[in-house]
Amino acid sequence: MTTAAVLPAFLTFDPVLLTLVCTACVLLYWYLKNTYSVFNELNVPGPTPKWVFGNIGEFKDKFPLEVFKEWRKTYGNIFGFFEGFKPSIVITDPEMAKQVLVKHFDKFHVRPIYNPFVYYPDDLSLLNTYGEINGVPFRKGWVVRIMLCTVYNDESFFPKPEVFDSDRFTTEEKEKRHPYTFLPYGQGPRMCPGYHIGVFQTKAALVKILRKYVIESSPQTVDPLPVALRPMLSPKDGVCVKLTKRT
Ligand code: HEM
Repeated sequence: MTTAAVLPAFLTFDPVLLTLVCTACVLLYWYLKNTYSVFNELNVPGPTPKWVFGNIGEFKDKFPLEVFKEWRKTYGNIFGFFEGFKPSIVITDPEMAKQVLVKHFDKFHVRPIYNPFVYYPDDLSLLNTYGEINGVPFRKGWVVRIMLCTVYNDESFFPKPEVFDSDRFTTEEKEKRHPYTFLPYGQGPRMCPGYHIGVFQTKAALVKILRKYVIESSPQTVDPLPVALRPMLSPKDGVCVKLTKRT
């Protein structure tokens, strides 16, 4: 029996196989290098990605909204990160949200089914003039995330954000800030078609409860309220309050 015969097949020298493996490695290296350098080349700020995993490791044991808020503080209103191989551009600037949702809607109309706030600029050509909006580059295949929930506790948009202020949404107060600062139903041609039903149902439910009960905070009420992204911003463990029956 020869030595080659007792060695496992992958240890025997096969020039064709070796060439194929080397070529595959070079191509993979080239692909990853190009993928992960795209934001650097286009001057889009953002956290440095790890090869293959991108930036997903930074979400480990952390609440995603806090990660996005931290990145916003460090990199500014618009930044890029990698969901594995996928470049994602995060928009936390109301004016850019308006550009994407309304003005350039024709380039940002596709929505995946799993998350209403993810936008694929599917038909964005690399070469046409729409590749750039107000100096921010957009490329085909990038995920575009409008994440205005990162500004809800930003003092420059909402003074004293932790305080419950029933006047925060009066016409006068709303006129003081950019109209795209708070978009719970989205905006533009693909805005939630159930907007009026949603608002009506919420008000009807509140009226029904308030007619029968007085709502007060209780010892179990948590303040400030922990929130979660599901994918909309919502109370993490519900809202615990005390209901007293009206007499
Ligand atoms: C509190 C209630 C609701 C909230 C906060 C809400 C919010 C949203 C948001 C943020 C979007 C994504 C918009 C975009 O992709 O630009 C959306 C889409 C949608 N919503 Fe709602 N929604 C609510 C209630 C409803 C109701 C009651 C209905 C139906 C009766 C409804 C039907 C839809 C549909 C069909 C879409 C997809 C529209 C499209 O892709 O073009 N929603 N909603």
